[in-house]
Amino acid sequence: MAGRSQSIIGLGLDVGTSGLKALAVDEHGQVVAEAEESYPLLTPRPGWSEQEPEAWWAAARTALKELSGRLPASGRVVALGLSGQMHGMVALDGKGSVVRPALLWNDQRTGDAVRAIERAVPRRKLIERTGNPAITGFQVAKVVWLKANEPDAFAATEHVLFPKDFLGYRLTGEMYAEPSDASGSNVFNLHAMAWDGDILGALGLPARLWPQVVPSKAVVGHVLPRLAEELGLPEGLDVVAGAGDNAAAGYGMGLGQARPRLGSVSLGTSGVVFAPQAEPKPDPDGRVHLFCHADGGYHLLGVTLAAAGSLRWFRDTFAANRSFDELLELAADVAPGAGGVTFKPYLAGERTPHLDPDLRGSLHGLSLATGLPELVRAVLEGVAFSLRDALSVVSPLAPIDRALLIGGGGRSKLWGRLLADVLEIPLGISTAAHGAAYGAARLALETAGAPSPLAESGRYDQRDARWLEPGDYEPYASAYRRYRELGPEQGASS
Ligand code: XUL
Repeated sequence: MAGRSQSIIGLGLDVGTSGLKALAVDEHGQVVAEAEESYPLLTPRPGWSEQEPEAWWAAARTALKELSGRLPASGRVVALGLSGQMHGMVALDGKGSVVRPALLWNDQRTGDAVRAIERAVPRRKLIERTGNPAITGFQVAKVVWLKANEPDAFAATEHVLFPKDFLGYRLTGEMYAEPSDASGSNVFNLHAMAWDGDILGALGLPARLWPQVVPSKAVVGHVLPRLAEELGLPEGLDVVAGAGDNAAAGYGMGLGQARPRLGSVSLGTSGVVFAPQAEPKPDPDGRVHLFCHADGGYHLLGVTLAAAGSLRWFRDTFAANRSFDELLELAADVAPGAGGVTFKPYLAGERTPHLDPDLRGSLHGLSLATGLPELVRAVLEGVAFSLRDALSVVSPLAPIDRALLIGGGGRSKLWGRLLADVLEIPLGISTAAHGAAYGAARLALETAGAPSPLAESGRYDQRDARWLEPGDYEPYASAYRRYRELGPEQGASS
């Protein structure tokens, strides 16, 4: 009798770049409690991007304590799932203490390390085995950098973990990785589903630095008793391996093999095209990332580094006294083509399709007739064209014929409409995308055997979601041609 009104709850953690999010989700897929904590991003030198793993851990403890205090009395917590920023390097010594601050996904110090990897392992072999060419942000370049630049720290390092797996270690005392993050390392063999000993050997790195890789839905351990008490969690709570933030967010929205032609497009600080794949089919030129998905399949990820970040930069630099809404309203009165102005959004270099951290952005085609409205419109169009470039690399390998639109920029009607026209696919507006922590909670619930909240993601079906059908692409065709013909701009060499 007592159990009848009790709800089953899964917890999800997302160790992000600006903060940590903790969510509690019930078996119907409803979020029943949340908590957030922030921590600083460290940039000790230009191009360096670091965080203190102990700051993540302190944030996780505070957030979990708050979360457990907010849970409905009738709820029974069954498992906790992990997710977080991909690619980071957490270096631990033999006692499990942090050796130095973690190098993050957006750290750019590893140019020399990438060249060293390219010399040691033929590019084609690396793509064929791991799905990706050597990339500055990926994990192994950071380990190669550590060995070359901080030999004492490297010598002290006995374990290398991804950010979320470090939290798993602190919670349970066990070290594991799972495929979605592992495939963002550049040294995980997609065919063997294991660390690639040959590649590690060629790089002079011992395979023993990396932990065992288990599926996203594996239980990696149990919350240690003293922590369970401190955090208000059930004793021995199962901790589930989870997934990197992109895979977890996609999984949380029901993207995967069950809906092969449904993808997502994100207009966050960076812009992302996510497309599920049943078998790993990398781009032979490595222009788009290939990662394992949390459902046992794979996904492609096209990334443009400055999407909504471009609009923020534009506002802060040229129109600091205007709100985003005002700027978007101005742009709505300008016809497609932005009065002949073209914006290339490579403000932070670019990943897809150029894979070049040294590319730089630009504004072209200015005249005395150019005003603020045309400039804003050009920024919105430039980001949309960059996402069209990404989609055109993704589509032949993992076709998607519709996509969910997520991220802050997607809340603008104008930008969403324009993006659907430029990408020429319907975009589903979601009111309930909770991001990676939600996917992690869902993985936890499913691993614990709770009825799958998959049905809940039915809200993204054509019947339930609000879909923006693509309009006329023709007005954008010449502007996109202009964008392509301008070619990428190389930054001044440093
Ligand atoms: C993906 C990537 C980012 C991070 C951000 O390749 O670098 O999406 O995962 O959290």
